[in-house]
Amino acid sequence: MTKKYASLKSIASYIPPKCIKNSDFEEILDTSDEWIQKRTGIQMRYFASPEQNSSDLGVEAAKLAIKRSNLKIEEIDLVIVATLSPDFLGMPSTACLLSTKLGIKNRPAFDISTACSGFIYLLALAKSFIESGTYENILIVGAEKISSILDFTDRSTSVLFGDGAGAAIISTTTQKEHSILDVHISSDGAYSDYLLTPRTLKGSHFLEENLIPQYLQMKGNETFKLAVKTLTNDVEEIMKKNNIDVNSIDFFIPHQANLRIISAVGEQLKFSPQQVVVTVHKYGNTSAASIPMAMNDIYEDGKLKNGDLMLLDAFGGGLTWGSALVHFNGN
Ligand code: COA
Repeated sequence: MTKKYASLKSIASYIPPKCIKNSDFEEILDTSDEWIQKRTGIQMRYFASPEQNSSDLGVEAAKLAIKRSNLKIEEIDLVIVATLSPDFLGMPSTACLLSTKLGIKNRPAFDISTACSGFIYLLALAKSFIESGTYENILIVGAEKISSILDFTDRSTSVLFGDGAGAAIISTTTQKEHSILDVHISSDGAYSDYLLTPRTLKGSHFLEENLIPQYLQMKGNETFKLAVKTLTNDVEEIMKKNNIDVNSIDFFIPHQANLRIISAVGEQLKFSPQQVVVTVHKYGNTSAASIPMAMNDIYEDGKLKNGDLMLLDAFGGGLTWGSALVHFNGN
């Protein structure tokens, strides 16, 4: 029997309407455009409107990804969404809501919670489902309305994040040279307090006792150091395992959290500036949407061509991390 491989058939993103410049934070926080740009590289980010939830952002990206794949809605076998800012904090899943908004019926749909590494975990899942022969076409979506969980009195986190969504269709191919070559995912819960939305089910709504707020918290400095080390090691491992060197990579797309992290990792791994994709200056950190949004940017700029090899690398709350070697198999 011919071996089945998973391939990236299309990529798309959605950027919500409201552009927030660094100077907008100067009015509400003790911060400055100069500090934010110098320490993070971020110049602006986009926030969803109050009516939009993560599923609404994801739907827009998904519609475009499906259109670009030339598939019909009925041909989508499975929908998986990665988000740390789901429409509802329990059920229904954002994937179920998104599927219905797309008109997808009687198909499995579920969410995963792996924070900023979400898209790499989605690729790992989609690859296994396709290579096992379970499904032919899978819609994966990273969608985030992080503005809804930011503490706008905390200058060390609120200036870093943005909203957005990225979507991709992963489909079966028989050609290895057009496939997702490898995906590596990992985690370590010992560092769970580095990045946290601390609302737990402890406490009680009865008399509103001990309710803990849900705003995102981060140990910025510690996270920064661990991110550089983990992202670098992860890339070295996946390249070695697949016998691939830096020169064979067309685009290195790291998670977009901080320009200083991206530059440090890119330099340590000896990628040229032309290989390293940077979008953090315009979108901020959009967590699970960050990598597909960056991929979509090089696609829409006409740089990403069929057959190009991308190296993706992410790190996030959990802690979770992962990397992937992905050929583009779209047009
Ligand atoms: N404006 C002005 N000053 C700020 C500020 C802001 N928005 N945010 C923090 N500061 C201040 C701090 O309060 C601190 O002041 P102090 O010395 O008086 O206490 C000072 O700047 C230095 O803080 P520090 O945390 O050391 O800054 P930093 O250079 O490490 O940058 C981050 C902070 C958050 C930008 C950086 O640590 C970072 O990007 N961390 C990792 C983020 C990340 O990787 N996330 C990925 C996982 S998704």
